Amino acid sequence: MRCYGRCMHAAPIRLVEKFAAVDEHWRPKVVATVNGQDVRIVKTRGEFPWHRHDDADELFLCWRGRFRVEFRDRVIELGPGELAVVPRGVEHRTASDDEAEVLIFEPSEVVNTGDAAKSAFTAPRTVL
Ligand code: NI
Repeated sequence: MRCYGRCMHAAPIRLVEKFAAVDEHWRPKVVATVNGQDVRIVKTRGEFPWHRHDDADELFLCWRGRFRVEFRDRVIELGPGELAVVPRGVEHRTASDDEAEVLIFEPSEVVNTGDAAKSAFTAPRTVL
């Protein structure tokens, strides 16, 4: 690109590069914030613990692979480009048989394991 005078161009956030920098499963990384919400990326494999978030909806957007959002009475299967929203207060768990790459949109204060007991799955908020 050409810049004239004071260049205001900045690099975009490149999700492919961000995902490439993630080398562990179930540890979300913040790649952007907007109006108090985080855009987080996470690599998944296997099953996450059941939990709920009493004060926040949670949006999952599958970027690569196959990913499931499971409720006690139904399962939503997601492929690349598909998303689902978990309403606040609703018990859920997420899972993928093989590795998947997923974007999560939720308020910055949300802890990934919600009301579940603190465990190895509980991840500190980390910016990538
Ligand atoms: Ni959740």
